[in-house]
Amino acid sequence: MNRYVTGTMIRQMREKKNMTQEELAAKLYVSSKAVSKWETGQGLPDISLLEPLAKALDISMIELFSGETVMNRNRSSNMLRSVTYVCPVCGNSIFALGQCVVSCCGITLPPQQSEETDDAHRIHAQIDDGEYYVTVDHPMEKDHFITCLTAVSDHACQIVKQFPEGPAEARFCTARVRWIYAFCNRHGLFRISTKEVNK
Ligand SMILES: [Fe+2]
Repeated sequence: MNRYVTGTMIRQMREKKNMTQEELAAKLYVSSKAVSKWETGQGLPDISLLEPLAKALDISMIELFSGETVMNRNRSSNMLRSVTYVCPVCGNSIFALGQCVVSCCGITLPPQQSEETDDAHRIHAQIDDGEYYVTVDHPMEKDHFITCLTAVSDHACQIVKQFPEGPAEARFCTARVRWIYAFCNRHGLFRISTKEVNK
């Protein structure tokens, strides 16, 4: 039978809070013998006690059930490790600081893997008036076009939406930009390094 909460978790969390079995029992209006039984796997707390138990241990219900405390691991602030997800049904674009599970239109989206530019998706960038002026040699038709141009540095991401029947072009602040991306709605993500840009 699956146990919905483990005695080990209760004991570890109680000890972490420097609480005796008696003190925990008093908070829950049960006997210390009951707490001892839970911790040694000889009994389970009543379902109605789970919420007060989590509260007394200063953990969430999810942590109590999973048996693991959840640490807030902040994502790296390096934007160069960011990931793009694009929904093939509605075109929704999601930009994340790291890989995660993203779903749109009922589909779990894979992270976009960028490719080096090819002849059909040639990205051109030049420094103009202190900015990167970016263009792409690519059709801009309703069913096949560059949907956005993006410049990514270690601390910022600049995204410029593109529209069919307009030119594929954008201007980006140059500060620390490392990669310039173009997303084609049919062929995916392409990029160039700013090291390739003549300064
Ligand atoms: Fe394309």
